Amino acid sequence: MTKKQEKDYAQYFQAPSLKEAKSRGKEEIHVLYDSGIPDDMKRFGEGKTYLLQTYGCQMNEHDSETIAGLLEAMGYEATDDRRSADVILLNTCAIRENAEDKVFGELGHLKTLKREHPNLVLGVCGCMSQEESVVNKITKKYGFVDLIFGTHNIHRLPHLLKDATFSKEMVVEVWSKEGDIVENLPKKREGMRAWVNIMYGCDKFCTYCIVPYTRGKERSRLPEDVIAEIRDIARQGFTEITLLGQNVNAYGKDFEGREYTFADLLADVQKIDIPRVRFTTSHPRDFDDHLIAVLAERGNMVEHIHLPVQSGSSEILKQMGRKYSREHYLQLVRKIKTAIPDVVLTTDIIVGFPGETEEQFAETLSLYDEVEFASAFTFIYSPREGTPAAGMQDDVPVEVKKERLNRLNEFVSKYSLKDNQRYADQIIEVLVEGVSKTNEQMLSGRSRTNKLIHFAGNASLTGKLVQVKVTGVQTFLLKGELVASDHHNYQEV
Ligand code: 5AD
Ligand code: SF4
Repeated sequence: MTKKQEKDYAQYFQAPSLKEAKSRGKEEIHVLYDSGIPDDMKRFGEGKTYLLQTYGCQMNEHDSETIAGLLEAMGYEATDDRRSADVILLNTCAIRENAEDKVFGELGHLKTLKREHPNLVLGVCGCMSQEESVVNKITKKYGFVDLIFGTHNIHRLPHLLKDATFSKEMVVEVWSKEGDIVENLPKKREGMRAWVNIMYGCDKFCTYCIVPYTRGKERSRLPEDVIAEIRDIARQGFTEITLLGQNVNAYGKDFEGREYTFADLLADVQKIDIPRVRFTTSHPRDFDDHLIAVLAERGNMVEHIHLPVQSGSSEILKQMGRKYSREHYLQLVRKIKTAIPDVVLTTDIIVGFPGETEEQFAETLSLYDEVEFASAFTFIYSPREGTPAAGMQDDVPVEVKKERLNRLNEFVSKYSLKDNQRYADQIIEVLVEGVSKTNEQMLSGRSRTNKLIHFAGNASLTGKLVQVKVTGVQTFLLKGELVASDHHNYQEV
């Protein structure tokens, strides 16, 4: 290696460190206003194509919109054909082991492709690249990968791509510490729904969760930047936005000398002319009365709250580091239901946390009975290296965990059907998403509460808000009939 190469390598090879992530302090976060593309990179992708494969949550989906935006601003075009792609990027998820297994499986397949197309630039980004063990594994066992970059390095993509194209070495740039907030990056948004980041990172450090390490500390975007982006999205004609953050209720807590909370932000977003506003994900501990009051005013705030509970046992919640009890959660639910009687509540639940007893699991079932969630994402606990729970004694056999998941999923189905039955014979507002994937004759859409509904209608209604009468109710699907409108201006109904 030449001296220059050595210097470059040292600059790019900044391996992630969980230890550092845990000891993070109160460093100031700067906001950079940056279009992201240096002049000499603006035509770098002309005549070339890219394929971006996204795993995991909506945060990752949204990061992919930024990555695609950056690539297209450099002249690259999207392709579905991996054999002809010049750049393939895997935007990965680290939340559970099976998510990681999928990516390593995919890398195994891509090895052959890379051998056949040596000029292909193959990159790994997203949450897995923030894990020290993953970076080490890729550098040792998947040496054909050209580029690894972390979740705080997305804005550096043009530079990294240039280096990866010309370098013989694998280019690795993963900032273990969160970077600044970078505004103005180009985004490739499609369809009628748009995602908007309101904050990054998480400071909750739930004992099972890798996110505070992969996404860094909590930092909120400035309200004026968020509002400007939403106004722009509304002007472009999007019908629905989802405000994104790992813990949206902590929005604004990091502002110094400024009192502006998530509820304040929602109150401001309520004034913007966009029909539907969602947000995810909420943490029950930070869900305050002001927020409930703003949601109860409705307007463009939909009657759906995703409120992860994780467990119904106060003891397990304590070990999970969730910082609320079963009673606190139930009280919060009561408050929400009093303020918004037709609210739809959904949740996330982990079964088989280390040491979870049958009685503690039964408490999760009884909590489900009490809340009657409309739906839930349910998971078997998956140990994540470096998290406190990974070191806890776990005497629950895998079969028992699987059996608990099955029992829980029966509750999910039962209450999903029950919740859907509330809609029988009602007329509801539906955002038409397009022709149904399972039945070409039908249109598919979503209620304000995110219920999937199928009904006969013309594909030209796609993107519109229409009124639909519910004529059939299934466990995970409603069926309906379009309600005739005199003036056909569905945007106004
Ligand atoms: N094992 C299983 N599920 C997990 N989740 C987060 N970390 C883990 C883990 N280690 C679940 C939580 C969270 C959702 C996004 O993923 O339920 O709310
Ligand atoms: Fe993970 Fe807990 Fe933060 Fe959610 S609140 S991202 S579960 S640490």
